Amino acid sequence: MGGKLGKKSRAVIRRDKRVISTSYARGHPMVIERGEGVNIWDPEGRKYLDFTSGIAVANVGHSNPDVVEAVKAQADNILHNAGTDFYNELGVELAEKLVRITPGRNQRIFFTNSGTESVECAFKLARWRSRKTRFISFINSFHGRTYASMTLSGSKPVQRDHFGPLVPGVIHVPYAYCYRCPFEQRAGECSFECLDYIEKTILKTVLPPDEVAGIFMEPVQGEGGYVVPPRGFLKGLQKICKRNDFFLIADEVQTGFGRSGKWFASQHFGIKPDIICLAKGIAGGMPLGACVAHKNIMRWPPGSHASTFSGNPLSCAAALASIKYIEKHGLKENAAKLGRFGLRYLRDTIEECKHVGDVRGLGLMIGVELVKDKRTKEPNPEDQERVVLKSMKKGLLLLYGGKSSIRIAPPLVITKEEFEHGLEILDEVIKGL
Ligand SMILES: Cc1ncc(COP(=O)(O)O)c(C=O)c1O
Repeated sequence: MGGKLGKKSRAVIRRDKRVISTSYARGHPMVIERGEGVNIWDPEGRKYLDFTSGIAVANVGHSNPDVVEAVKAQADNILHNAGTDFYNELGVELAEKLVRITPGRNQRIFFTNSGTESVECAFKLARWRSRKTRFISFINSFHGRTYASMTLSGSKPVQRDHFGPLVPGVIHVPYAYCYRCPFEQRAGECSFECLDYIEKTILKTVLPPDEVAGIFMEPVQGEGGYVVPPRGFLKGLQKICKRNDFFLIADEVQTGFGRSGKWFASQHFGIKPDIICLAKGIAGGMPLGACVAHKNIMRWPPGSHASTFSGNPLSCAAALASIKYIEKHGLKENAAKLGRFGLRYLRDTIEECKHVGDVRGLGLMIGVELVKDKRTKEPNPEDQERVVLKSMKKGLLLLYGGKSSIRIAPPLVITKEEFEHGLEILDEVIKGL
């Protein structure tokens, strides 16, 4: 259980504040010392149920024994292989596996070390292959913090303010965020005015289609608060891409590796993106990412894109073990089943509460949007913080999302009893607001 910060934790936080950059958001005043499965412990030995998975990373649970064993064995072999200059069989094996499980066929893989690098890779690749420079991205999206990915992101001003000039050529349009539809339509009753806006307004006024390389999208907006688009939105987007010769680029950094209930969230919506960005849950907690594209797209010349740590052998070994674990233990299926259970549970218990505006989700990505008033839908960041901090005190770790959402993203190894226990805490905290 959580509680007041202990002496050891306070000391770490004090030292951190002296030497670590002030730019980390650090929404949880908590020090993590150890993790196992769905639990985390602080230096005082207090146990927390983790509904964050290290921000959608520990899909197979913290320090998963199979992943740890694979990393240890690989560490005895070799720690580093310069992917820029040498070949390595583990990287090949992992790329072969990724080609099999990602939507599409005959793809090639570029390995990165993080989500933002996967997005940078996709951005460069789309420009290189199309010889076009401009992109469409979405409001309320998050793609990372390096230049192209920061430019593509469209959520919090603090992520972009004073970093300009950003990368030229990116236009933001509204996502199918039905709870806050800017076209004032109702979910399930609209004619996808958001898609029409792209084709009939943006492409006919300020953005010539023959200058556009691609559209970047998250199949479910992650940091934006687990915003799930309605059926038909992503298919419609794919049609716009086909009609106009744009690449459809899916950022599956947060939605990948079983979290949605399938390997990738795109598979729920019947689309096959041209380029896919991966990271987070790919390697069970080790730093790794990948950009995936058809071999006719990823055929840039040697030297045009590379990275010293690309395809690090420890991370590749961890990824192979993690993917095998997801398959062997039915974690996709567990995410789908418990995701349905969690949505039902929260809709039955808290949806009626006066501070709860929306409950939505796909697999083990559930968003609860808090508002000041159900009618005006005014965001309620104060309650958002209250819920995260009060839950933490009761031993449950939750994620912030969007302007005032709570994100629920436990490791996919969670049992129904553990999940229900965490949901009960959240229910109690929200009812006590
Ligand atoms: C959808 C998405 N893309 C990209 C990123 C950036 O990943 P990283 O923090 O590994 O650079 C994130 C991180 O939250 C993300 O959620």
